[in-house]
Amino acid sequence: MADIPWTWLLIRASGVTTWGLLTAVVLWGILLHTRLLGRLASPIRLLDMHRWLGASALAFLLLHMGLLLIDPKVAFTVPQLLIPGLAPWQPFAVALGIIAFWLLIPVSILGRIRTKLGKAGNTIFKRVHLLAYAAWPLATAHYVLAGTDALTEWSLALLITGGALMVFALLARGFVPAPAPQRPARKDPVPIS
Ligand code: HEM
Ligand code: HEM
Repeated sequence: MADIPWTWLLIRASGVTTWGLLTAVVLWGILLHTRLLGRLASPIRLLDMHRWLGASALAFLLLHMGLLLIDPKVAFTVPQLLIPGLAPWQPFAVALGIIAFWLLIPVSILGRIRTKLGKAGNTIFKRVHLLAYAAWPLATAHYVLAGTDALTEWSLALLITGGALMVFALLARGFVPAPAPQRPARKDPVPIS
């Protein structure tokens, strides 16, 4: 333990935190889409929390990646950090994390500029947002394959809990139809006398 650099420990801690936050932001997104909680949670509060979780997940992901640049043992370069397959350590497992990172960038950018895009932008926003469903399994596979601690008891408990919640939420997304958009009430036709 004494000869493990503090950066390597933080890389692992920030990785697990990113995964937890990513799982939470996707689950929150599903709650937002399905309105599964009904009156228990207003859409505005769900959206606020969803945005906060998304921003925090990205912040921890950037920390996770940034620390690899200064870690004395692996010392990634910027291209190795951004281009899948170039990593000096477990290139395949790390590539999965890099692809997840690239998928999350358009998801969060379009989320932030959504209101400026108008009506057509809403369709693009929704389609691009679906990339999050590809990012999550890639990030999870990266966790399992690259993680030094991935198969320890606490980590398996975390993975199984997150995975079970995800399966449950996805089933709910499949079976619970999204609420129809609210339209203004139509006026009754004036009776012809
Ligand atoms: C890391 C960033 C993010 C991830 C991984 C993420 C993920 C998701 C997911 C998986 C859904 C469910 C989509 C569906 O099933 O159709 C969703 C819904 C949603 N997200 Fe995000 N999101 C992120 C950031 C944001 C941001 C920054 C906004 C900004 C406003 C946002 C706004 C929304 C809205 C409004 C919905 C509901 C869409 C609907 O009703 O179909 N998201 N999100
Ligand atoms: C959404 C994206 C990502 C998530 C959720 C994530 C999460 C994780 C997790 C949970 C671990 C295992 C920690 C442990 O148990 O020891 C890990 C390890 C690692 N990640 Fe990521 N990661 C992501 C993206 C990346 C990217 C883009 C890179 C590099 C360019 C990267 C490089 C690494 C490396 C080198 C390790 C090994 C550290 C160890 O020994 O465990 N990750 N990551």
